[in-house]
Amino acid sequence: MDWHYVDLQAKQWVMEAGDKIRDSFTETLNIQTKSNPNDLVTNIDKEIEQFFINKVRKTFPNHRILGEEGFGDEVNTLDGVVWIIDPIDGTMNFIHQQRNFAISLGVFENGIGKIGIIYDVAHDELYHAVTGQGAFMNDTELPPLNQATVKESIIALNATWVMENHRIDHNLLKPLVRDARGTRSYGTAALEMVFVATGRVDAYISMRLSPWDVAAGSVIIEELGGVVTNLRGNKLDFLSKDSLLVAKPGLHQTIINDYLKQGKW
Ligand code: IPD
Ligand code: CA
Ligand code: CA
Repeated sequence: MDWHYVDLQAKQWVMEAGDKIRDSFTETLNIQTKSNPNDLVTNIDKEIEQFFINKVRKTFPNHRILGEEGFGDEVNTLDGVVWIIDPIDGTMNFIHQQRNFAISLGVFENGIGKIGIIYDVAHDELYHAVTGQGAFMNDTELPPLNQATVKESIIALNATWVMENHRIDHNLLKPLVRDARGTRSYGTAALEMVFVATGRVDAYISMRLSPWDVAAGSVIIEELGGVVTNLRGNKLDFLSKDSLLVAKPGLHQTIINDYLKQGKW
C-alpha cells in the first residue's frame, strides 16, 4: 500500500470537507436527535460522511469504511484497509458554538493504525500522523510526549463522570480530580485527544466512546509515545464502544495504578 498517496488524498478530502462545513455556517441546519434528546445529528454530519464515502469508494474500491452516521459498510472485523470516520466530532458544539468540533479520520490496516487526521475546522488546525513518520500540527512537527506527574497535570474529563451515573462509581475519579492541577472539558473526544498530543492537556478520560471518536487520535498519540487504552489498561479494539484513557507516558501508568485500580467499577 502506498500510504503516502493515501495520506495525500485523505488530507485533501479533509480540507475540502472543512470548506463545506465552514460554508454551512450561514445556512439553517436541519437538526435531529439520535439515541437521546442530547445526542444530535445534522444534515451536515450526514453530507460530510457521504462526501468521504464517495471519495474513498471511487479512489480505493477495496477499502472498507466505518462511519458514525451509518452510510459506510457494516464492519465487523478490521481485516484489510478500513477507514474509520467521524464526519463531525462535537456536533453539539458545532450546533451551539460553531467551534470546538473536528473532522476525525483514521485509516487502519489489519487492525493497525496507519494514518490519523483530525481537523479543527474553526481554528484551521490540521493534526496529522502517518505511523512511523512523525505527527504534525499543520506544518509543525510535534515533539515526543514527556513524562508528567498528576499534581502538575491538566486532565480533560466530562463532569458527568464525577456525578452519579450508571457507568462507574462516581467517587472513583474524585481523588484524581482533587490531586490534578486542573480539569477541562471540551466536548469533543477527537480534539481532547490531540490536546494531549500538543501538551495543552496531559490526559483525557472518558467512560464510553465509539471507534470513530478515537481511531484517528490514537494514531497521532501513539506516534508521539503517548499511551491509549481503556480504563482497565487494555488496548482498544476499534470495533466496539469502550472507555478511554489517553495520557503522556508514565502519567498513564500512574493513573491506572494509583487511581483506577483502587476503585470498584
Ligand atoms: C461526541 C463527542 C463528545 C463525547 C461523546 C461523543 P459526537 O461525539 O466526542 O465529546 O463525550 O461521547 O459521542 O456525537 O459529537 O460525534
Ligand atoms: Ca464523535
Ligand atoms: Ca459525530
